[in-house]
Amino acid sequence: MVRTLIIVGGQWGDEGKGKIIDALMEKADAVVRCTGGNNAGHTVVVDDTTYKFHLIPSGITHEGKLNIISNGTVIDPDVLCSEIETLEKSGFTITDEKLIISSTAHTILEKHKKEDNPTTNAHSKKIGTTGRGIGPAYCDKINRSGVRIGEFVQGSSDSAKKLKPLIKDTATIVNGLIDNGKTVLFEGAQATLLDIDHGTYPYVTSSNPSAGGILTGSGVGPTKIDSVVGVFKAYITRVGGGPFATELGTDEQTKSEESASQLKEKRSSEEYEKEFTSLIAAANTDDEYAQGRLLRMQGYEYGTTTNRPRRTGWFDIVAAKYAAMINGLSSMVITKLDVLSNFKEVKLCVAYEIDGKKVTDFPLDIAQLEKAKPIYESMPGWDDDITSAKSFAELPKNAQNYLKKLEELCGIPISIVSVGPARDQTIVLDGKTLL
Ligand code: GDP
Ligand code: IMO
Ligand code: MG
Repeated sequence: MVRTLIIVGGQWGDEGKGKIIDALMEKADAVVRCTGGNNAGHTVVVDDTTYKFHLIPSGITHEGKLNIISNGTVIDPDVLCSEIETLEKSGFTITDEKLIISSTAHTILEKHKKEDNPTTNAHSKKIGTTGRGIGPAYCDKINRSGVRIGEFVQGSSDSAKKLKPLIKDTATIVNGLIDNGKTVLFEGAQATLLDIDHGTYPYVTSSNPSAGGILTGSGVGPTKIDSVVGVFKAYITRVGGGPFATELGTDEQTKSEESASQLKEKRSSEEYEKEFTSLIAAANTDDEYAQGRLLRMQGYEYGTTTNRPRRTGWFDIVAAKYAAMINGLSSMVITKLDVLSNFKEVKLCVAYEIDGKKVTDFPLDIAQLEKAKPIYESMPGWDDDITSAKSFAELPKNAQNYLKKLEELCGIPISIVSVGPARDQTIVLDGKTLL
């Protein structure tokens, strides 16, 4: 029986971790957010309401569950307070029965945010950081010159006063829950390929968002974890700089597109219908940029935190196998399968070509990765709208075959397939219940 489950991002983030945590939360007692800060943006859709969480764990809308922000995180006190206030305005009561914060998490200070400003700091711009002060805050932590949040709340600011009652020794509490047989989810933020050690350095975040970092980041030993699940989109996206072997179109083309709000406005117009129809036609030729744009538009691929258009590409098996190894994955969750509709052909990158040689291991040398050209295996796609499918059997045959191929090539089973942002658009495969 699985009682402790790590949910980790398998790609470059935004795989739908928030949605999956929320969908699993009904069967859990507590959820722990272990790494990163408000560089994360986790979307949870409950009926007609969309919540975007940056620091608060994605279980917060469920009644009677404990949400924990643990020691591995970096906290911007004002951002956390405003997240709490937004929830309070929506009718939630936030007390230490619902949300607790580790006293040993570190504080993002004004100076950290000033330093990590992509418009004034060339390094932040090159990496494409979220500009939230994440890197500088972790630098101070590692340099032993940071301010722990337990220390910060001793101050007299409004945010210090608001957060103080929520500050606890979370590692002892989490271990106590586990020892008492409670079900605990560990909510990954960022993702494996953004890991400071295992990701595409230097184009990474400043923490260890993979399974190992989740343990250190929560104070839970490896023998207490029953299962580790990786969340992957049915394709792949990246926001920020860095190599991306299966990218469709260029970063510059993506950046030159309309903003998320402009697209939202356009979406209901007749002009959009026409543009969309011709985009589908173009995406079914060898126009790679059109394929990437179709993924971006159908998947609404705009950053939850920064609103930036996300770079898009075909699923990368080489990178997924690497993520499976680094995290010791028990199974995969495949999200956004619905976004692949309207492609006559879908592609999987099964190897890279680097300097004329076929490579199947994910290169750790960034210069090698920058040269990697994808070697694809193509499969027939599907036109059907699959957003109301309730089982594997209800998916079109070609979608079923795509999932089977993913399992076969990655060498790990798929446990859940997501076909839309809502809770009930979550298909748990037969015999693969996670909790
Ligand atoms: P996270 O950072 O991993 O939690 O992911 P984000 O919330 O940043 O981005 C995922 C986006 O995809 C959000 O807008 C979700 O509402 C949405 N989403 C999640 N699962 C699905 C799915 O299966 N299909 C579609 N169409 N959207 C999904
Ligand atoms: P969730 O949890 C996608 C990326 C940034 C940038 C790099 C470094 O929503 O999946 P940072 O501000 O962390 O120093 O930026 O990491 N990044 C993310 N990309 N999803 C995230 O979180 C991310 N958090 C950081 O875009 O490339
Ligand atoms: Mg996100």
